[in-house]
Amino acid sequence: MSNDRYLTFALAKGRLAEKTLELLEKTGITCEEMKDKGSRKLIFVNEERKLKFFLAKGPDVPTYVEYGAADIGVAGKDTILEENRRVYEVLDLGFGQCRMCVCGPAAAGELLLHHERIRVASKYPVIARDYFYNKKHQTVDIIKLNGSVELGPIVGLSDVIVDIVETGSTLKENGLGVLEEICPLSARMIVNQVSMQMETERIREIITQLKEVCV
Ligand code: PRP
Repeated sequence: MSNDRYLTFALAKGRLAEKTLELLEKTGITCEEMKDKGSRKLIFVNEERKLKFFLAKGPDVPTYVEYGAADIGVAGKDTILEENRRVYEVLDLGFGQCRMCVCGPAAAGELLLHHERIRVASKYPVIARDYFYNKKHQTVDIIKLNGSVELGPIVGLSDVIVDIVETGSTLKENGLGVLEEICPLSARMIVNQVSMQMETERIREIITQLKEVCV
């Protein structure tokens, strides 16, 4: 059955988008337009496959997908958990691997053991709240920061932080360490719930092809 409807991808700007495009290319889906770094275009089209791609800020990707402005999205698991949008998570793409952790100075480990009312700084208040309140049953004060979260315990804003750890070098260089691991993270493909019903065949084909190339 021919289908003239475009399937639209929202990709998180930066490394995730680059890696996703590399994977798609391995499945035979290319988007030459996107390779032109000088271009100011926001939407890129693959006419042959009837696909459209756009780049968005990571945290906005699940929003575009939930509202159906994009059928498919690729974002980090951290963003997907934090945004908590009604979307289907269909595939772990295997790259961008890191961990969401509770981190701080070694001395703060005690505060976690005794369920004290501590201050937790994070760019991910939803994830931090869920972990402390629902999993650990520990009442804490969550302080939202927008970056360089490691500063929290160093300058005395918070006792610990909830943050992404990749190599661990940021923590190490700042005299901090991992105290508890919350969950593993990586890039995930998400799909709009209606699109999954309406375009099952095309979306399933893309998922199957991607599974074959992401090891
Ligand atoms: C992320 C994260 C850590 C760092 C972890 O920060 O928030 O700070 O990377 O990486 P590492 O374990 O390899 O050192 P990002 O670079 O995104 O900037 P931000 O601190 O401003 O959020």
